[in-house]
Amino acid sequence: MASEQYEAVLPSLYLPQLARVKRAAMMTEWEKHFEIELTTGQPLGHEPGQFVEVSVFGIGEAPISVSSAPRDDPGFELVVRKMGNVTSALHRLEAGATLGLRGPFGRGFPLEELAGRDILLVAGGLGLVPMRSLIQHILAHRSDFGTVTLLYGCKEPAELLFTDEQAEWAERDDFDFRVTIDRPHPDWDGHVGVVTTLFEGLELDPRSTKAVLVGPPIMYRFVILECVNRGMADEDILVDLERRMKCGVGKCGHCQINNKYVCQDGPVFSYHEIATLREAI
Ligand SMILES: Cc1cc2nc3c(=O)[nH]c(=O)nc-3n(C[C@H](O)[C@H](O)[C@H](O)COP(=O)(O)OP(=O)(O)OC[C@H]3O[C@@H](n4cnc5c(N)ncnc54)[C@H](O)[C@@H]3O)c2cc1C
Ligand code: FES
Repeated sequence: MASEQYEAVLPSLYLPQLARVKRAAMMTEWEKHFEIELTTGQPLGHEPGQFVEVSVFGIGEAPISVSSAPRDDPGFELVVRKMGNVTSALHRLEAGATLGLRGPFGRGFPLEELAGRDILLVAGGLGLVPMRSLIQHILAHRSDFGTVTLLYGCKEPAELLFTDEQAEWAERDDFDFRVTIDRPHPDWDGHVGVVTTLFEGLELDPRSTKAVLVGPPIMYRFVILECVNRGMADEDILVDLERRMKCGVGKCGHCQINNKYVCQDGPVFSYHEIATLREAI
C-alpha cells in the first residue's frame, strides 16, 4: 500500500493509536505472547504478513509482526522476543497496560497468488511468528489450497513456539507438519538436523507449488537452493525480509536495499524480485 493510501485510512502515519493489552503471557524463556485490542474497539484491519510499529511511551517504538490472521473479534496477537530497550519494556507490560500502535504496514503474503496452489511453508525460529498469521488463514480457508506442508526448525526444544497449536497441526490429515531441532537434545526425541534436512523424502511438484520462507538469512540461502534444485521458479519462492526500520512507511530510508523499501515494498518479496539485490539475503 502506498503512503498516500495509508494516509486515507489512518489518522496519521506517525501518530500512534492507543491500544490495550488484553492478555500477556510468556511463551518461552525469551518470547512473550500478547493479545491486543485498539481502544476504539475497531479491528486492526491487517493482512497476514503485515507488521505494526508498537510503542511503549517514554521508551520508543519497534516493528513487530502480527502473528494472528484477521478474525471477527477486534483482538490480534503479537509475540515479542526480548532484545533491547523497547522489547524489554514490552515484556514488562501485563494485561490492562496501554501502548501505542501504528499500522498495519507493509505488503504481506500474496493470498490471491497462493490460492489454488500447493503450499510449502518453511519457518525457522522466530519466523513462525509471522508465518502463523498465514497458517491460520490457510487453515480457515483450507479448501482454497492444494497440499499444505509446514517445515519448522529451531535450535533447541525450549525455543519452539506455539507448542499447543503444533500438537493440533500434527493431528490434522490435511496439513503435513514436520518439525526439527538443529542438534540432539535430551528433551527431544523427534527429527534432528537443520530445517533443510526435512526436505528429505518430501514430494513436491515444482509447477504447482508456492514456497513461503520466514526465518534467518542463512536459512533462506539453503532453502532457496533446495527449492531451485527441485525445479521451482524464482517467482514461486517467497521470502519475508527483516531489516532495521524506523518510520515503517517508506519515508526514512532505514530499511532500503537498492531501490526497495522493505517496510513498504515488502517485507514479503518473491525471490525473483530480490535475487539481483545486493545483500538482500
Ligand atoms: C518487519 C519486522 C517485523 C518484526 N517482527 C518481530 C516480531 O514479530 N517479534 C519480535 O520479537 N521481533 C520482531 N522484529 C524485530 C524487532 O523489531 C527488533 O527486535 C526490535 O526492534 C528491537 O528493538 P529494541 O529496542 O528492543 O532493541 P535495541 O535496543 O534497538 O537493540 C537490541 C539488539 O537487537 C538488535 N536489533 C535491533 N533491531 C533489529 C532487527 N530488526 N534485526 C536484527 N537485530 C536487531 C540490535 O543490533 C541490538 O543488538 C521485527 C522486525 C521487523 C523489521
Ligand atoms: S523504515 Fe523508513 S523507509 Fe522503511
